[in-house]
Formats: sequence, structure tokens, C-alpha cells
Amino acid sequence: MKGRAMRVAILGATGQVGREFLRILEQRNEMEIGELRLLASARSAGSTMEFRGKKVEVIEVSEKAFEGVDIVLASAGGAISKQWAPVAVKAGCVFIDNSSAFRMEEGVPLVVPEVNGHVLKDHKGLIANPNCSTAQLVVVLKILHELGGLKRVIVSTYQSVSGAGKEGMDELDLQTKALCKDEQHAPKKFQKQIAFNLIPHIDSFADDGYTKEELKVVNESRKILEIPNLPVVCTAVRVPVRVGHSESVLVDLEKKVSVAQVRESLSNSPIVEVWDQPEENIYPTPLDCAGEDPVYVGRIRPDTSSENGINLWVVADNLRIGAALNAVRIAEYMVKHDLVGQKVAN
Ligand SMILES: NC(=O)c1ccc[n+]([C@@H]2O[C@H](COP(=O)([O-])OP(=O)(O)OC[C@H]3O[C@@H](n4cnc5c(N)ncnc54)[C@H](OP(=O)(O)O)[C@@H]3O)[C@@H](O)[C@H]2O)c1
Repeated sequence: MKGRAMRVAILGATGQVGREFLRILEQRNEMEIGELRLLASARSAGSTMEFRGKKVEVIEVSEKAFEGVDIVLASAGGAISKQWAPVAVKAGCVFIDNSSAFRMEEGVPLVVPEVNGHVLKDHKGLIANPNCSTAQLVVVLKILHELGGLKRVIVSTYQSVSGAGKEGMDELDLQTKALCKDEQHAPKKFQKQIAFNLIPHIDSFADDGYTKEELKVVNESRKILEIPNLPVVCTAVRVPVRVGHSESVLVDLEKKVSVAQVRESLSNSPIVEVWDQPEENIYPTPLDCAGEDPVYVGRIRPDTSSENGINLWVVADNLRIGAALNAVRIAEYMVKHDLVGQKVAN
């Protein structure tokens, strides 16, 4: 399949992540695209979207829509993926899923290509893309692990409203405008008012008091890093930011490494940018990172409460690194390593 133009379908093309897929496929040339199909629900069928200067019609997802497709980039939610992934894989497609439906399933590769791309060689057609907070976190954790051996990770996330889809962004916009005029806009997508507020509650609560979002970060990080018992704990918070997830990351390492070593190792990664001159006000913020590809790291300092601890601030565009860009990078890796069009589901 290497060298041949790919026939690609985007399932959920009209959503936030779907639109980002279109932008990224337009910007990148790593994978030649022979045909692009845009799939959504009956609500959007018949509308058009633009790709490389041409209008492409959105069609309703159906069994027939996957015929002749090599790669499906899916971002229509877990229920839709559960319904259509087996159909697409049976039709011979590689199905790269952005939802949480299959991430922890045995035998389904959960991938950030720069961290664990090698697991793709054993794929059976279905590939999972991690949760947005996990994707940016593991890029940094992998580098720290190679440097000093991960012993324990404590992460607090500051997650933008676009992580909750288009409805999340609309709610922040409308609520902010209403409150500026002394009017009310009742919360619908979020549990509480998000404008001028923050909410320590993303997804539902599990029995142990942690949210499912927090547990995703823990379990997915362990799976991607291939360290099943790594102690990881997370607090996930929704903040009134449109795009860009930030994370305060505290890492205990097996051996002592200096801030300079951490800075150098992170700087050597082709997908990380270190912005770390606090005295010049140089550190990443979500506004700096929206629309950009790297994982940005700043505020690198020793954890003064622990012998071998490092404290960092990690920011990335959740719609790109946390969803569409990572999925496209998975597709590119698979094309490059001749992994498309060979495997059929058991
Ligand atoms: N936003 C993020 O940062 C992020 C990060 C990682 C993963 N994800 C995951 O990506 C998925 C989508 O997120 P999003 O933010 O793009 O959501 P969104 O803006 O709400 O978009 C949802 C998309 O799914 C389509 N869809 C809904 N119901 C459908 C159905 N029955 N059949 C076919 N298509 C259907 C919608 O099409 P219509 O126009 O027809 O309604 C739309 O294209 C979610 O699983 C989310 O967890 C999101």
C-alpha cells in the first residue's frame, strides 16, 4: 500500500474534531489522499465542506459509505464508533477512533506514534486514539522516563471547553456574552456555569470519587507507556478557555536529573517545544498553542518537596495533538510502515 494514494473517510466530519481533520489533511503532505469521504448523521447529509479548494458533499454514514475506503478517521462519539467500527473493519478499512469506546480493550492498540508507534504492527484494523489530556502528557512522560525512570506522576489538568465538542464552545461563548450584559444563560452542556468559573468535574464520577476523565488519564498513560503499575493520579478541571489543554505535571523519578537535562531532552524531541524563560514571561499558555502542532513545555523546575522530583507545565491544542493530529499521524505511520490494507478483524 506504500506509495499509493489513500482513500480516506472522516466519520464525524462536521464536528469540532472533524473540521480539524480537514484542516490538518490540507496542511500536511505526508500521506497522499486519492479520495476523501465526509460522513456524518442524516442531520448534515447534503451539506458541503471545502477541501483543497473543492466542495465535498457530506453523506450519511452507512455500510456502503465504507466500501473502497482504506482509512477511517472517526470522531463522532463512542456509541457511533461502537456501531460502525466493526462494519468498517469488516469492509477492510483501518478504523482510527477518537472516542473512548475501545481504548482499554485488550488487543486494540492505543497509540501516540512518537511514544509507542511500534505496537501498530500487531493491529487488527481498529486503532484507538487516546484522550486529549493523555496524548500531550505521555509525550513528555516518555522523555522523562528515558531520562530518569518514572516512579510516580501527579497531574492536574486545565481543560478547554472545546474538549466537550461544539456545544461546549457555544455554551462558553453565549454565557460570557450574556453575563457581560447582566443577563443569564443557564448551563446545559456543563454541570455549572463555565464562564468566569472553573469546574472540577469532567465526565461522570466513579465509585472511588475520581471522575472517569481522571481515570482515563491514569489507565491510558499506563497502557501507552507500557508501565502497567505506574503510580499516576489526576485531577481534571474544565476551565473557561476555548481551545488548548494545560497541565501541571509533577513527576518523581528513580534517579536525580537536573532541570538542564530535562530541558535538553525535551528540546531534542521533534514534537516538543520548550518555552521556559519565566523572567521574560516566556512560558506556554493555551492562547499561544491553539492551532499549533507541538506539545509546549515551560516552568520546568525541581520539585522542592521531593528528592528526585521535577515540576512542569505542559500545554497543547486539544483538537490537534489531543485528537485529529495524533490520529492523522497514526495514519501516516501506518502508510509509511505498510500497515494499511493488510489486516482483517478476527
Ligand atoms: N474535542 C476534543 O478535544 C476531543 C479530543 C479527543 C477526542 N474527542 C472525541 O471526538 C469525538 C467528537 O468530538 P467533537 O468535539 O468533534 O464533537 P462534536 O463537535 O459534537 O461533533 C460530533 C460529530 O459527530 C457526528 N455525529 C453525531 N451523531 C452521529 C450519528 N448518529 N451518525 C453519524 N455521525 C454523527 C456529528 O455530525 P452531525 O453534524 O450530523 O450532527 C458531528 O460531525 C468524541 O468522541 C470526543 O470524545 C474529542
